[in-house]
Amino acid sequence: METIILAAGKGTRMKSRLPKVLHKVGGKPMLRHVIDAAKSAGSTREVVVIGSGAELVTQQISGVEFVTQAEQLGTGHAVLCAKDKFANFTGTLMVLCGDTPLFTGDLLKKFADHHKNSKAAATVLTAEMPDATGYGRIIREDDGTFKKIVEHKDANSYERQIREVNAGIYCFDAAKLFRALTAVKNENAQGEYYLPDVLTILKNEGEKISAVTADDYTQTLGINSRAQLAEADKILRQRKNLELMNSGVTIVDPASTFIDAEVEVGMDTIIFPNTYLEGATKIGENCAIGPSARLTNMKIGDGVQAQFCYCHDAEIGDAVTLGPYVHIRPGTKISSRVKIGNFVEVKNSNIGEGSKLPHLQYLGDTDMGANCNVGCGSVTCNYDGKKKFRTTIGDNVFVGCNTNLVAPVTLGNGAYTAAGSTITKDVPADNLAVARAKQTNIAGWNDKRK
Ligand code: UD1
Ligand code: CA
Repeated sequence: METIILAAGKGTRMKSRLPKVLHKVGGKPMLRHVIDAAKSAGSTREVVVIGSGAELVTQQISGVEFVTQAEQLGTGHAVLCAKDKFANFTGTLMVLCGDTPLFTGDLLKKFADHHKNSKAAATVLTAEMPDATGYGRIIREDDGTFKKIVEHKDANSYERQIREVNAGIYCFDAAKLFRALTAVKNENAQGEYYLPDVLTILKNEGEKISAVTADDYTQTLGINSRAQLAEADKILRQRKNLELMNSGVTIVDPASTFIDAEVEVGMDTIIFPNTYLEGATKIGENCAIGPSARLTNMKIGDGVQAQFCYCHDAEIGDAVTLGPYVHIRPGTKISSRVKIGNFVEVKNSNIGEGSKLPHLQYLGDTDMGANCNVGCGSVTCNYDGKKKFRTTIGDNVFVGCNTNLVAPVTLGNGAYTAAGSTITKDVPADNLAVARAKQTNIAGWNDKRK
């Protein structure tokens, strides 16, 4: 089985500069969902028809072949543009739309199996929609077999009452499809070459057309507007939450939990409200995430607690506590049992096992060993306005409160800095560095003032 995916349309109804099929649902572009489902259903090759915003699509989508439809003359014309790619192909050709991201590979597989077993020339997936506005309606013969598809804009008031719609998912005998496509005309309300018309053409040639109805209409929703985008996103979110809950994750309030399709969460982790788990985030077991955590492309170990924080493109070991009010930035690797407390930012740094950054720190471009303690208010001065420099801190280092570490600088194992120091020179192992003005007490000063 091979697949054509139609993705050349402008997506006029989205009112967007971004091609419609690149808009994200469940954290990934709609088109990506469609490709992934096709692959998981057993498709061995995907040809994507692109046109509007083609350059952006080819930049963001990989692992497929592209053909260009220079002018968007309709879905039938779009399929015809891919004809040369299937010159010698004799298997099942599946045709999908890039703007229907909600179906699973499982649904496609069952659909394709049905097509093969029924020996039809073409099979179309249909669905009973609560609101069929905008979809092509399925017109059946008196005996229930397929008759034709009428687009919403071409439908009369009787046909518009039909709620069984074309899901835009088809399987074809490739040779028959391309032959029938050349006979499709554009005499309709939109002046377009409609792909669904090939079904009628094949039927009139005496071919068998099968129309199978999906059990779950939510898998077949098409996205033409921002409102439908939000609806689809919500459905994917509910599906993801359910999948995780079924695998042993507690989600305290699914309605305020936003988890992208690819995220993985281990057993007995609890997710508190107002939490966003995004991109390629992987979370271990027995964690407590949230309330109010946004974790993007994060790798997180077991037994981690993270509340009120934003962490992205970084790695966190086991039994780490984060927050409240923590920002972990890209390139950071935090080892196990580290404590990162209130109002702390860490960027592009390695923090060794058991070290503590309990309150009000900024650490940038730092390599820190194990079991260090950084006092409140300490910062790395990693930037001179032009270049960034690294700070190196050994094991068992104690950085006193309100220390400025002016990089590049190295603190050896067991070094101490006195509170309020501005450290500009390396501190050898086990030394105490004091880098602040000596205190002077002026006796009787207040008496004189009076
Ligand atoms: C289409 C179907 C409709 C079905 C619905 C399901 C047609 C004529 N109508 O309507 O029966 O109920 O999908 O969601 O097929 N595209 C191209 N080139 C073009 C035109 C469209 O590649 O010239 C692509 C679009 O990018 C999109 C897909 O084909 O991904 C469907 O096009 P769209 O305009 O959204 O069709 P609908 O009006 O939704
Ligand atoms: Ca559509």
